[in-house]
Amino acid sequence: MTGIKIDGKEIAQTVKDRVKKAVEELKKQGINPCLATILVGDNQASATYVKNKHKACEEVGIITKDYKLSSSITQFEINKIIVELNNDKSIHGILVQLPLPNQLDEFVTTSRISPLKDVDGLTPHNVGLLAMKKAVLVACTPLGVMEMFDYHNIELEGKNIVLINRSNLIGKPLYHLLLARNATVITCHSKTKNIKELCQLADIVITAVGDRSKFTLTPDMIKKDAIVIDVAISRYKEKLVGDIDYDQIIQKASYATPVPGGVGPMTVAMLLKNTITAASLSSQIER
Ligand code: GUN
Repeated sequence: MTGIKIDGKEIAQTVKDRVKKAVEELKKQGINPCLATILVGDNQASATYVKNKHKACEEVGIITKDYKLSSSITQFEINKIIVELNNDKSIHGILVQLPLPNQLDEFVTTSRISPLKDVDGLTPHNVGLLAMKKAVLVACTPLGVMEMFDYHNIELEGKNIVLINRSNLIGKPLYHLLLARNATVITCHSKTKNIKELCQLADIVITAVGDRSKFTLTPDMIKKDAIVIDVAISRYKEKLVGDIDYDQIIQKASYATPVPGGVGPMTVAMLLKNTITAASLSSQIER
């Protein structure tokens, strides 16, 4: 018996359908949800991600503003643009696509975004709220993973969960979201010595390394009927791959996500959801 595929495209569509209805409701109240994206430089992968985000916004009726900035822009200049967007009442969400060129500091840049418009949940304010179980806007990929668990009614309370990632966009927010659901969470990273042994004890493994030349989560590393969420996406031997070989893992896991068609579409869907949340927030403040 093979496990069940967690189909990101299918689940993302259910989120988009809900967002579309919410957009219609907001429009009835005179609010036209709008997301501004900032893309710095000419990283092809980033340009594709931003294009997909715009396309998804269009599908659900969210307006987009597209800021494409030169790879040589200074910290001062980008800060000024963000402050202008913060002050623009017609814009509800601001997303700075990462990574940024070396002259720009990721923390300095994303911290400039108003917490109310921070659809990536990266500002210190929103990170603090999440850590205190008062989250309002949370990073899109972790939210998407939680949506996948809920769609399949996967119980998290009391589960041993191993995360293989400690980034601000993935591992850290997931840690808080899972802990808030009473899971026991272990965060692994590049210096963890016994990843294999930790994974073998886990009910759920969430992996996001993204470099198959360095790391693959193989079937011998998981216990029978474990749940495996593959957040990674990278190009390896001319193919788009995650951290697992899905066809092998699904022979042993009870659930697993494919790449592509797994967590990727969820990230985009949750960005739409966060944009609606941000639009509702600013409308409450204006009233
Ligand atoms: N780069 C890769 N993933 C993301 C994301 O979720 N948000 C932003 N802003 N940049 C990214």
